[in-house]
Amino acid sequence: MRIGILGLGRIGAFHAETLSGLDAVESLVVADPFADAAKAAAERFGAEVADSPEALLAAGVDGLVVAAATDAHPALILAGVEAGVPVFCEKPVARTMSEGVEVLKAVQGSDVPIQIGYNRRFDAGFAAARAAVQAGELGTLHTVRCTTLDPAPPSAAYIAASGGIFRDCSVHDFDIIRWVTGREVAEVYAVGGNRGADYIRAAGDADTTGAILTLDDGTIAVVSNSRHNKRGYDVRMELHGFADSIAVGLDDKLPLRSVEPGASFPSGTPHDFFMDRFTDAYRAELTAFTEVVAGTRPSPCTVEDALEAGWIAEACTLSLHEHRPVTPAEVRQG
Ligand SMILES: NC(=O)c1ccc[n+]([C@@H]2O[C@H](COP(=O)([O-])OP(=O)(O)OC[C@H]3O[C@@H](n4cnc5c(N)ncnc54)[C@H](O)[C@@H]3O)[C@@H](O)[C@H]2O)c1
Repeated sequence: MRIGILGLGRIGAFHAETLSGLDAVESLVVADPFADAAKAAAERFGAEVADSPEALLAAGVDGLVVAAATDAHPALILAGVEAGVPVFCEKPVARTMSEGVEVLKAVQGSDVPIQIGYNRRFDAGFAAARAAVQAGELGTLHTVRCTTLDPAPPSAAYIAASGGIFRDCSVHDFDIIRWVTGREVAEVYAVGGNRGADYIRAAGDADTTGAILTLDDGTIAVVSNSRHNKRGYDVRMELHGFADSIAVGLDDKLPLRSVEPGASFPSGTPHDFFMDRFTDAYRAELTAFTEVVAGTRPSPCTVEDALEAGWIAEACTLSLHEHRPVTPAEVRQG
């Protein structure tokens, strides 16, 4: 099949490399307003270059991968759907929830599939955790702990456009909690602090947060995030039930140093970047998209799914600012 890629920045170039290695993908067409980015990808992966998203769609593609900057997502998703081309779009659906709701309304009733890029759904560890919960191996689930810690803060420009740590970072934890547990979030209470880079405080954002999510069956989920985790990129989930307890991300590359005498675990080089931590997950995610394009599976992460994680991020943002518990229903629009 022939896949078009819009946006050849950090993640777009990485997806181009992954796609060029998939058996199902015969050729790539790429476009980016930053012509050098498109040209570099074309040279590296033997892709054709189109001058614009319109030209790329007119060149005839079987599937469209949108890895452009977030503010371009809505228009590019809709352009793909209007052309009848299945779309994979990086998270989030849009810069704001109201724009995301507009996208949902515009595509409702269309049979063109859209897959949003919540890559953790394709990680072997998270998939095994979901299977264990579904099989009842943990008994009654009572506690989930979910962690995403970045080695260093992103640039000031990135922070200013990110919408804040809950919408930018914790949203991956919120999506995976829903997906692994199969439950919805009933209420959140969030706290945050800022003792690092001044530009994060100046942007009205927090560099470190904690959120307690009460799920609709009473399970308590604790989400921990920070932009300052020098030891590495730490993504983990622990699930505790009446019958058993399991962990995702508890491997030799876990960026944590045990101070127990005699303990040698973990002994590997710590993960230091999301692309290294989730290389296999990104490959599985894009392989799934080729199956969506081929019509052999439905979208594994719909616009509705992505918006649900977004409402939880909105609720946490409000909770942090107003120091009170908030329900996703309170912030939901549309
Ligand atoms: N799922 C994940 O793990 C993950 C990780 C990183 C980024 N992302 C998402 O991917 C998107 C891109 O992030 P990035 O870090 O690669 O950003 P980036 O700034 O490195 O790259 C964005 C690219 O998009 C191009 N672009 C802007 N408007 C465009 C348009 N209309 N058509 C085509 N190209 C356009 C820019 O010129 C730039 O080259 C963001 O939405 C981000 O949230 C997701």
